[in-house]
Amino acid sequence: MKKVYIETYGCQMNVNDTEVIFSILADAGYERTEIMEEADIIMANTCSVRDNAEQRIWGRIEQFAFQRKSRPGTIVGIVGCMAERLKEKLLDSHKVDLVAGPDSYRTLPDLIASITPDHPAINVMLSHEETYGDINPVRIDKNGVSAFISIMRGCNNVCTYCVVPYTRGAERSRDPRTIIREACDVFSRGYKEVTLLGQNVDSYLWKDPEGDVTFARLLEMVAKISPDLRVRFSTSHPKDISDEVIETMGRYENICENIHFPVQSGSDRMLEKMRRRYTREWYLSRVKKIRSVMPECGITTDVIAGFCSETEEDHKQTLSIMREVGYDYAFMFQYSERPGTIAAKNFPDDVPPEVKTRRLNEIIALQNELSLESNRREIGKIHKVLVEGPSKRNPDELCGRASNNKMCVFPDKTHKVGDYVMVKVLSCTSATLLCELAQ
Ligand code: SAH
Ligand code: SF4
Ligand code: F3S
Repeated sequence: MKKVYIETYGCQMNVNDTEVIFSILADAGYERTEIMEEADIIMANTCSVRDNAEQRIWGRIEQFAFQRKSRPGTIVGIVGCMAERLKEKLLDSHKVDLVAGPDSYRTLPDLIASITPDHPAINVMLSHEETYGDINPVRIDKNGVSAFISIMRGCNNVCTYCVVPYTRGAERSRDPRTIIREACDVFSRGYKEVTLLGQNVDSYLWKDPEGDVTFARLLEMVAKISPDLRVRFSTSHPKDISDEVIETMGRYENICENIHFPVQSGSDRMLEKMRRRYTREWYLSRVKKIRSVMPECGITTDVIAGFCSETEEDHKQTLSIMREVGYDYAFMFQYSERPGTIAAKNFPDDVPPEVKTRRLNEIIALQNELSLESNRREIGKIHKVLVEGPSKRNPDELCGRASNNKMCVFPDKTHKVGDYVMVKVLSCTSATLLCELAQ
């Protein structure tokens, strides 16, 4: 049997796509390996969201090319968002035999079969329909507790800085029956948590003569599979999150109280320029709604520092909205111009790199404070934790997440991976809650 090795970069949706690829290739008789040196096919499932993501992958391509040279016949493939964005450019490097975009994975077995030393293969066609709905992904997570399920693909928003709509194509929702089937399947195999994935889950919509299925409805359908199956989701777009979604979360104990709610900037002028299509005031009113239904809900965010023409005043607005919301956690980035986006075509990337870095560092320092404050507020509280495994630092301790997504560690010899455990928070760092068993 031929062996396939895949490295995955980028978002969780890409991780799930790698699982889809393994499934398609397994049906075609290929076997998965985690050892690059023994693989017949070496692939990278790539990300284009920021320039440094792409630079890292170019570095890996050099390593792959070395394998190809020392073991003639080895196939090197680049798939995913960077394949879609750079297309023939990757083939022109003469280091790659296969280029496949995110909607072409069903054709991978044929593409691979067609490759000869002189003829690489490429398919970067985007689709309006492909959701891989019928494909049962081969899970590559390590713990067997938490599975990711894509509920939609693509994105119809045109945030001016963002390359995703170009690499992933138009938004389309997946048939809810296939989503439920997949969630039931992983639950029956011992998984205790599913995370529903999409670039903008709130715009999920399946049209059906028997009644349309919205994201709120889908959440409820998944939550009803079993009270022992936790449900999470990502990402919520502040312009689209509905009261129904927030209220559905409040009604089901097994829908985790955590919303990833990317703000990007606290300045209305920047938000408008980014085409996020909400204002600071709207964003804060949504946070208020979330907290009125779920006072303990974890709220996390993404922030971009140094977008085009960002002034010191705009930057201060970002710091102030972070304080006002008191985020539990944040992913923080410097703006990276992506060729082909609306921003790249229309706005000069004019914030000097050292200013971007300084602003990003201020944002990171503030978030560290906010994360620590948020964790300190947990001291004394009881949480239900889903055990994920032994703690990284101390093998006598277990770790797992609370409903609000905070990582808890606690000494325990009686429970095992996949158990639910009640713990009491004793102290914390900015990243972890240090707990003891509550029973
Ligand atoms: N669909 C999600 C985000 C997907 S990309 C949403 O709308 O929130 C993940 C994050 O990468 C974004 O939230 C943004 O903060 C960041 N990002 C996207 N494009 C970027 C760019 N050109 N430069 C820097 N950060 C970027
Ligand atoms: Fe990119 Fe905006 Fe779509 Fe998110 S919603 S993927 S930031 S275009
Ligand atoms: Fe990257 Fe593509 Fe995801 S650009 S963030 S892998 S959708």
